[in-house]
Amino acid sequence: MERILDIITQKMQGAFAAAGYDASFGRVTVSNRPDLCEYQCNGALSAAKQYKCAPIQIAKAVVANLNAEDYDLVEAVMPGFINLKLSGSFLQKYLEEMRTVSDFGVEKCGEGKTVVVDYGGPNVAKPLHIGHLRSAIIGESMKRIYKFFGYHTIGDIHLGDWGLQMGLIVAGLQEQQPDLPYFDPDFTGEYPAEPPFTLSELEQIYPAASARKKVDEAFAEKAHIATYELQNGRPGYRAIWKHIMNVSLSDIRKIYDNLDVHFESWLGESDADPFIPAMIDDMKAKGCAMESNGALVFPVAQEGDKKEMPPCILIKSDGAVLYDTTELATMVQRMQEFHPDKMLYLADKRQSLHFEQVFRAAHMCGIVNDKTELEFLGFGTMNGADGKPFKTRDGGVMRLEQLIADITDFVRAKVVENQIVAPEDVEETTKKIAMAALKYGDLSNQPTKDYIFDMDRFAAFEGNTGPYILYTIVRIKSILAKYGAWENLPIQVPANNYAKELMLAITKFAPTMESALKSSAPNLICAYIYELAGAVNKFYHETRILGEENEDLKAGYIALIALAKRALEQSIYLLGFSAPDKM
Ligand code: ARG
Repeated sequence: MERILDIITQKMQGAFAAAGYDASFGRVTVSNRPDLCEYQCNGALSAAKQYKCAPIQIAKAVVANLNAEDYDLVEAVMPGFINLKLSGSFLQKYLEEMRTVSDFGVEKCGEGKTVVVDYGGPNVAKPLHIGHLRSAIIGESMKRIYKFFGYHTIGDIHLGDWGLQMGLIVAGLQEQQPDLPYFDPDFTGEYPAEPPFTLSELEQIYPAASARKKVDEAFAEKAHIATYELQNGRPGYRAIWKHIMNVSLSDIRKIYDNLDVHFESWLGESDADPFIPAMIDDMKAKGCAMESNGALVFPVAQEGDKKEMPPCILIKSDGAVLYDTTELATMVQRMQEFHPDKMLYLADKRQSLHFEQVFRAAHMCGIVNDKTELEFLGFGTMNGADGKPFKTRDGGVMRLEQLIADITDFVRAKVVENQIVAPEDVEETTKKIAMAALKYGDLSNQPTKDYIFDMDRFAAFEGNTGPYILYTIVRIKSILAKYGAWENLPIQVPANNYAKELMLAITKFAPTMESALKSSAPNLICAYIYELAGAVNKFYHETRILGEENEDLKAGYIALIALAKRALEQSIYLLGFSAPDKM
C-alpha cells in the first residue's frame, strides 16, 4: 500500500503543476506544528525564489487546485506554508484498505532474499547472563521483523562451544577427577555414556578454572594445551566436550523456550572448525594471511583508518584457533549453506572492533561478495538501579534464569493480589505479562544505549510499559467479546476527533515497520504502539462505545478498535510477546 505521505505528495505535486509551477516543489512532510495541522508543504517558499513572486501567492494558487474532499483543512498561511488536515473520508478509505489487504499493506521487500540473524550466542558450560538476554530479545525481534517483510530468515544461535573456555573445563575437570578414562591417552575402550558431572557441577568448574588461570601459569598452560588438543581431535577430550554439550544444551534450550525465543539453526563455533583448514589455505594463497611472531594473522588495517586496526589473529603460536577464526569460518559455512543476502550480528557493543575486523577480512578475501551485507548491531549494557552493570544482591553476576524468575515472581504477586484471573490461569497470564514487561523494558530503548533495569517500572500497568500495552489490548478484546460478531465490520468515517486521532495513529503502522527494519530499531515499534495505545484509551474514555444507541455508529466504533487491536497484536508479535485474554 502506498504511504499517506506519498499519496498526498503526489496530489500536491499535481496541484503545483496545475497552477503552473514545477511539480517537484510539492513535497509534503508530517507537520512540525501538530497543533495547527497534520501535514504541511513548504514548497511555495522555495518556488517563490525561482518564480520571483510572493510565496503566499503561489501557495494560494496551489491550494485552489487541491481536491477539497481529501482535507478537513487545506489552507495557505503566511508567509507561504500550506497546512493540511486529512478528511474523514480520506482516512476512512485508507484504513478500510489497510483492514482488507494482508499485513496492513506493507511492501514485502524481502521476498526472495535470505538473512541470517546471529543472536543469542550463549557459551556452553557457563551460565547465561544479562548480556545474553539483550541479544536474545533484540535478535528475536529483528528476526521476526525481517520475516514479516518476506525475508527467508535463519536465526542462528552461534553457540560459544569452542576455544579456551573448553580447554579450561577439561583442565579443571582433570584436576578434580584425574582418574577418569578421558584423560588416559592409552584408553581404547568405550567412554561412559553418563556425564562425569551434573549441570551445577559443570557450572562451577568453569569459573574456578577461569580464576585459577589468572594466578597459576602452569594451569593456564595446561588449559591452552587442552584447547589445542581438543580442537585437533583428541578422543578423550572430544568425549568430555560432548558431555559438556549435552548437559549444557538442554538447559540452554529450556531458557530460550521460556523466553519464547527460537532458533532455526543450533550450530556453534565448533561446527565451523571443519571449514578452517581450507579457508586458511585460501587466505594464504591470496596473500591475506601471514606469519607474525609465530602466529598466523590477517592484517585488515586500511589507509585512512582513524583508529588503530589490529590484524585478525587466525592461529596462535600454540596452534589454537581463536574467536576471529571461527567467526570467519562460520561465514564460509553460511555462504555455502544458505547463500544469504545479509548477515546480521547481535552482540555487546564492546565487540564492535572484532566485527569490524572480521567484516573487513571477509570482504578482502572474498568470503562474502559485495552484495552480501554484513551488519553488526551492538547493544548497550543493562544496568542496575545504581547505573552500574546489573549484579545480584551479594554482588555476583546475575544469572539470566534468576532475573526471569524474579520478574515472574513480582508479576505473579500482582496478578494474585488483584485477582486478575481464575487461579488456574494465574501462571499463563503471569508469564505473558512478565515477558511483556521484560521485553518491552528492553526493546523500548535504542539498542545501542545502556538502560536501567527497573522491575517496578517495567511491570507497571500504567505508563510506557509492556503491561500497559497488553492492558489496552485486553480492554479492546473485552469490548469486542461483549459486542458479538465484530470480525468483518467496515471502517467508517471518524465520528469524533478522538476517533480521527486513533485513525491517524493506525496509519503509521507500515512506515514504522519500514523504519524499524531499515534502522534495526524495534524501539520505533514500541514508540508506535505506545502512541497507538494512548489513542485507543483516549477514544475509549471519551466515547460511549457499547452504550451508543445508533447501531450503525456503534459498528463503526467497533470496527475501528478491532483494527487497532490487530495493529497492536501484530506489533507485539514482532517484539516477541503476546497478550492474555484477561488482565
Ligand atoms: N558467545 C559470545 C559471547 O558470549 C557471543 C557471540 C556473538 N556472535 C558471534 N557471531 N560472535 O560474548
